[in-house]
Amino acid sequence: MPEFSAGSNAIIVGSQGGIGSALVSQLGQSKSFDKIFCLSRQPSSSNDKRLISIDCDITDTESVELSKEKISAQVAKIDLVIIATGILHGDRIKPEKRMEDIEIPNMQQVFAINTFAPILLAKTFSPLMNTQTPAVLAAVSARVGSIGDNRLGGWYSYRASKAALNMYFRTLAIEMKRRNPKLVVTLLHPGTTDTRLSAPFQKNVPEGKLFPPEKTANYLLGVVDGLTPEDSGNFYAWDGKQIEW
Ligand SMILES: NC(=O)c1ccc[n+]([C@@H]2O[C@H](COP(=O)([O-])OP(=O)(O)OC[C@H]3O[C@@H](n4cnc5c(N)ncnc54)[C@H](OP(=O)(O)O)[C@@H]3O)[C@@H](O)[C@H]2O)c1
Repeated sequence: MPEFSAGSNAIIVGSQGGIGSALVSQLGQSKSFDKIFCLSRQPSSSNDKRLISIDCDITDTESVELSKEKISAQVAKIDLVIIATGILHGDRIKPEKRMEDIEIPNMQQVFAINTFAPILLAKTFSPLMNTQTPAVLAAVSARVGSIGDNRLGGWYSYRASKAALNMYFRTLAIEMKRRNPKLVVTLLHPGTTDTRLSAPFQKNVPEGKLFPPEKTANYLLGVVDGLTPEDSGNFYAWDGKQIEW
């Protein structure tokens, strides 16, 4: 577990998801964090008083605002935000294999969760970010959102939603260089991880390439810990290598 300075506070959005819950439990093992705000649609409880569960629907502006009010009532600044929410498939939604599968309501739902919600969360939480020492505002994206790396095709909406997320965060990083020069805004690719999101698509994953969520969380926190304000606006994989746009 990488070291953050003592007295840090974190927000993990999607704290009940596969990667999000592993991030919470690793941060919980660090003595550096005074409070870890766990945002999810499913309330949870913990014996660890530093873990504070907040009910939040990321697609609802009022719910996100209310979460901010609850957080700012308890701490003066936030040092780390990781947005670990996302959708690839759902009750109605399957990633499109071919163009005939494209449907407006499905595209709208995928973009609402993967693209619009993270930039809304970033807008809402960025005034809380520490300005005195480097803080990190990260969204979990996906390598398949890289336009340059797209050789296989398919998964139209998921790919496009992550490509657009990357553009939102790159743009945000440029604005934040002026407004909070010590803030690192970043995008992270977790590697294929054994979660509900990847479950239907794991059969062709090569041996050793499907990470348990704990391993992914450890990699991602390692990447985050190594970032400096000069790295803001970049897209990193779990191994710390930059991914082309
Ligand atoms: N797993 C992989 O192989 C992989 C690979 C590349 C990128 N990623 C990215 O990693 C991130 C985390 O995914 P995961 O694998 O951990 O998937 P997961 O286990 O399915 O978790 C996704 C989380 O998103 C939350 N969420 C969805 N809609 C929401 C909403 N409207 N309001 C609040 N929360 C909402 C879910 O909350 P509920 O628990 O309330 O449903 C869940 O906690 C995603 O951005 C995904 O695209 C994953």
